[in-house]
Amino acid sequence: MSDEYILVTGGAGYIGSHTVIELINHGYKVVIADNLSNSSYDAVARIEFIVKQHVPFYKVDIRNEKELNQVFSNHKISGVIHFAALKAVGESTKIPLEYYDNNVSGTIALLNVCKSNNVKTIVFSSSATVYGDVTRFGDNSMIPIPEHCPMDPTNPYGRTKFVIESILKDIYDSDELWKVAILRYFNPIGAHPSGLLGEDPLGIPNNLLPYLAQVAIGRREKLSIFGNDYNSHDGTPIRDYIHVVDLAKGHIAALAYLKNLQSKGLYREWNLGTGKGSTVFDVYHAFCRAVGKELPYEVVARRAGDVLDLTAKPDRANKELNWKAELTVDDACKDLWKWTTENPYGFHIDNYSWENFDGYNNRLHSFVNGPLKVNLANHGALIQKVLLDGVNMVKAYDNAADFKDKSNPFFGTTVGRFANRVAKGQFELNGKKYQLTQNEGNNNLHAGFNGFDKQDFLGPVVKHKDGKFLVDFLIVDKDGNDGFPGEVEAIVHYTIDESSVGIEYECRLLSGEATIVNMTNHSYFDVSDSANIDGTEVKLVTDQMMEVDAELIPTGKFVANEYVTDPIVLDEKKPFDNCFIVDDDNCGIDTRARPLKKVFEATHPKTNNKFTVETTEPAFQFYTGDGVNTKGFAKRCGFCVEPSRFIDAINHEKWANQVILKKGEVYGSKIKYGFTKK
Ligand code: NAD
Ligand code: UFG
Repeated sequence: MSDEYILVTGGAGYIGSHTVIELINHGYKVVIADNLSNSSYDAVARIEFIVKQHVPFYKVDIRNEKELNQVFSNHKISGVIHFAALKAVGESTKIPLEYYDNNVSGTIALLNVCKSNNVKTIVFSSSATVYGDVTRFGDNSMIPIPEHCPMDPTNPYGRTKFVIESILKDIYDSDELWKVAILRYFNPIGAHPSGLLGEDPLGIPNNLLPYLAQVAIGRREKLSIFGNDYNSHDGTPIRDYIHVVDLAKGHIAALAYLKNLQSKGLYREWNLGTGKGSTVFDVYHAFCRAVGKELPYEVVARRAGDVLDLTAKPDRANKELNWKAELTVDDACKDLWKWTTENPYGFHIDNYSWENFDGYNNRLHSFVNGPLKVNLANHGALIQKVLLDGVNMVKAYDNAADFKDKSNPFFGTTVGRFANRVAKGQFELNGKKYQLTQNEGNNNLHAGFNGFDKQDFLGPVVKHKDGKFLVDFLIVDKDGNDGFPGEVEAIVHYTIDESSVGIEYECRLLSGEATIVNMTNHSYFDVSDSANIDGTEVKLVTDQMMEVDAELIPTGKFVANEYVTDPIVLDEKKPFDNCFIVDDDNCGIDTRARPLKKVFEATHPKTNNKFTVETTEPAFQFYTGDGVNTKGFAKRCGFCVEPSRFIDAINHEKWANQVILKKGEVYGSKIKYGFTKK
């Protein structure tokens, strides 16, 4: 893959985010610059989740040449797709200066930086609005609208697009090496079919489908149809609605066209539309079909500035760019409805916020659900804090950089792809021997030097459903990392309600025939609200433990633990770092269908805070943190309960099928950590 990037300005926005996905799907590397003035970083997190790779992001205002130039210094940019703009027609009539400043001055700044970095390939987001009211030609000669139709925008927003097109033309005229594609969009609609990305209008939506979607989920009472006395089959105006994914693909086609040019440079305009007009009622009925019910509407007076017909003549793009819109208004309505039901308030979710935890690559995501506040970070998909009525029950650093310290005892992280120990770091699978890194004496512990705990996960995708936060992180672990065979994709699903943090692990093989997987969470819990867990009262569901040797590797036998009384009062004279057996049956590679079983409970007389662990897993490691010695935390600052498969299961014939993940199968497990008052 080339080391050249496409810079996407406004890549966190509606059309930009869909285009970034298509670019990556077509093998391009992308860097996004967006000031987030009309978008959310969550869109970028979701892009990464969908494309399963990191996408560099800069929170930059394109008017800031210095910061923009830094992006060009950090990445070798070969071309720019320029979406960043303000785009509300009505608003532009009220604050025209802001529109000219943001859109026109922003583009001039971008072009200055492009020029000084010798980047001369640009695809620009223009709009059908530049044509103005084409019915002015009277004889319908300009409907459908061809690119040669004279421009006459009727509002400040449209005029910013007209001015920018003119600037780009003048630049090309001054230097024929520029390659400029002007894409004039008709009416973009719909959402990503994954349901993870879509339009997220702030305030009351201006456009037809975003408004209708809010009526459908009950955020607005009814749709106002602006006039039914136009000269169309049902009296409502005609527009050329284009699915946003088709529109996004148009950018890939334009970029490819510019790259493959025979001439030195080019300035050319293309309409991106379907060529098919639909009336407001046509679209209304299509959306009602997607929703499955009739939605309330009322016909009101015409909206000022609306015209009868804006339908594209897309022949030039069809022929020259070899691009054609393929999806229908019905497809767009179906995808919009999925996006709306799964994200009723777009990217905004009450009681969810995030902050930088070391730049954008590392973030701390906070969720408040009743008395519980939970902080998760994408580094290691870790649990950084759980506060119950303001009292912290999970010990970990406050500073992102500290998590990368060598003395970090896996604070809060997801451990995998293989939790706990593999004896000598060796195992055999399908007749082949593998040697893992030996990061703890002879053995491999928690996957080695670059386990899941050391990596930044992609996402999260955050949703709120039935009173719970659903938070998904994803990681792709490369073939050969720390010696493990096969590339895997693992998803950590968190569910946060008012009294618990649930975790569901899911892992699939992306390459190779088989690998080994065992995932768990390595949080240090504390119910004492103090620096030391001693005095905590603990109940374990079992006293059956794995017998282990001096290196904590199982001998294959189970033994009873003499210290397991009911309850055990934690005391430093009786440290625990033991694997307790919940079930010795054959659990297989996916335990998620098994009932959650309560295996652990801890309380402290001082706080009356109660912590419980439920799991579908056959075993759990109980560790009282006696080896902890790190910045701000001493030994026994917290205890760990790590539900998992049997230690070193791969090297014991009768346990090995707990951890062997074959192609086409799914590794799965569940944990539920409860945080309540006694
Ligand atoms: P959007 O608002 O969702 O996306 C625009 C993005 O640009 C946002 O993420 C915003 O934060 C960012 N941005 C704005 N000003 C910026 C600045 N100064 N510096 C950095 N980032 C900035 O809008 P969209 O619908 O995705 O539109 C994308 C482009 O397409 C715009 O240029 C718009 O004018 C054009 N367009 C949109 C439509 C439409 O109906 N959506 C139609 C025709 C043309
Ligand atoms: N409409 C209603 N009720 C509403 C909203 C819209 O009846 O609540 C009607 C409008 O009258 C129009 C049609 O639905 O007939 C589409 O209206 P939109 O506001 O969704 O879209 P427009 O065609 O007015 O404008 C859009 C973008 C512009 C862009 C233009 C290019 O908003 O930025 O497409 O064609 F320039």
